[in-house]
Amino acid sequence: MPGFEIFGDEERQQVNDVMDTGVLFRYGFDAARKGHWKAKTFETELARRMGVGYAHLCASGTAALATALAACGIGAGDEVIVPPFTFVATIESVLMAGALPVFADIDETLCLSPEGLEAALTPATKAVLPVHMCGAMARIDEIKATCDRKGLLLLEDACQSVGAAYQGKALGSFGKAGCFSFDPVKTITCGEGGAVITDDKAVYTAAHAFADHGHDHIGNDRGAEAHLIIGANHRISELNAAVGLAQLRKLDRILETQRRNKAAIKAAMAGLPRIAFRQLPDTGGDSATFLSFFMPDLESARQAVKALAAAGVDGCFHWFDNNWHYLRKWDHFRGLKAAARLAVEAMPNCPDLGAVSLPASDAIMQRTISMQIKLGWSPQQLEARIEATLKTLKNIL
Ligand SMILES: Cc1ncc(COP(=O)(O)O)c(C=O)c1O
Repeated sequence: MPGFEIFGDEERQQVNDVMDTGVLFRYGFDAARKGHWKAKTFETELARRMGVGYAHLCASGTAALATALAACGIGAGDEVIVPPFTFVATIESVLMAGALPVFADIDETLCLSPEGLEAALTPATKAVLPVHMCGAMARIDEIKATCDRKGLLLLEDACQSVGAAYQGKALGSFGKAGCFSFDPVKTITCGEGGAVITDDKAVYTAAHAFADHGHDHIGNDRGAEAHLIIGANHRISELNAAVGLAQLRKLDRILETQRRNKAAIKAAMAGLPRIAFRQLPDTGGDSATFLSFFMPDLESARQAVKALAAAGVDGCFHWFDNNWHYLRKWDHFRGLKAAARLAVEAMPNCPDLGAVSLPASDAIMQRTISMQIKLGWSPQQLEARIEATLKTLKNIL
């Protein structure tokens, strides 16, 4: 997820614009900022690029999720269906909203499956929060159809899939709201940042207010603004937004390079026996940040990540065994280990998250390896990587 690989004069110029004015705050100081509105400009360009009516920048993807949940009216006691393969932030944001994460199975898209979703529904289900993992899409049209049929809110965590699309429509734009992350290892980065996108003006207004202490942002006298709701501070700074703006303008170039590099590796690996690739409901819409593939079983997957690292093929992840992205190793969620009592613990029948068992998801994650795709590989480095990958995997298969 390599936005940082191509920092250059464009980012420097945007940051210098801000430094030259001394205005690091995204609101007000109209005269002093000499026409530079980095957060606002980023939002306008992001909304246009994603084909939605509104975008609101936040301090992180996690802040964007918290903001989107609040803006969509998800709170105490609501059930939100989530996948077990994601980053902890998705689950944290649901718990911090006072809602209960209900885990449902993934499929070979590595994302929440429509079947898993159906099986996890209860009368208390309020929202569905699929996560478009590792740069590509869930079966989002089917998930959306289920949500529409059941009257459920659809919210997309597209933090890892900026620029990916399904049938030409941006991931993040299918539901009531979608969230992106621009943290240091994302497709485009601004150090720390995130965004909520939506087509719904009321959701946008609530998100904008929630992320800034409830301010209504009417007029240009901040002290005179009314508070629409109780909010928080999830604001992005102008400095971060400046970097993000330059990166957004490079997004299509980034995607093109990632797709080319991934296609070369995938084509070479296609001849390997007993390896299958992640299912992509729309290959053309893949942002290509990772090449994810399935080894025959857990043992061979464990062997392969070790051997690939030893052969110098860096950035290969076996999520089943690491603490980052899969429920299996998240003992803190399983035990609801929090700094303070959580709202869900006050629910009359607070479920035992430790008892959650998803063998179908386990069976997929045991075999999954995701290989990072970088921008900066020279043709020779790419060739050497392909050669080392093939040699290593052939020895195991
Ligand atoms: C799927 C997913 N959701 C949410 C986040 C949170 O984003 P941030 O790090 O910007 O808070 C991440 C970050 O890795 C992520 O991968």
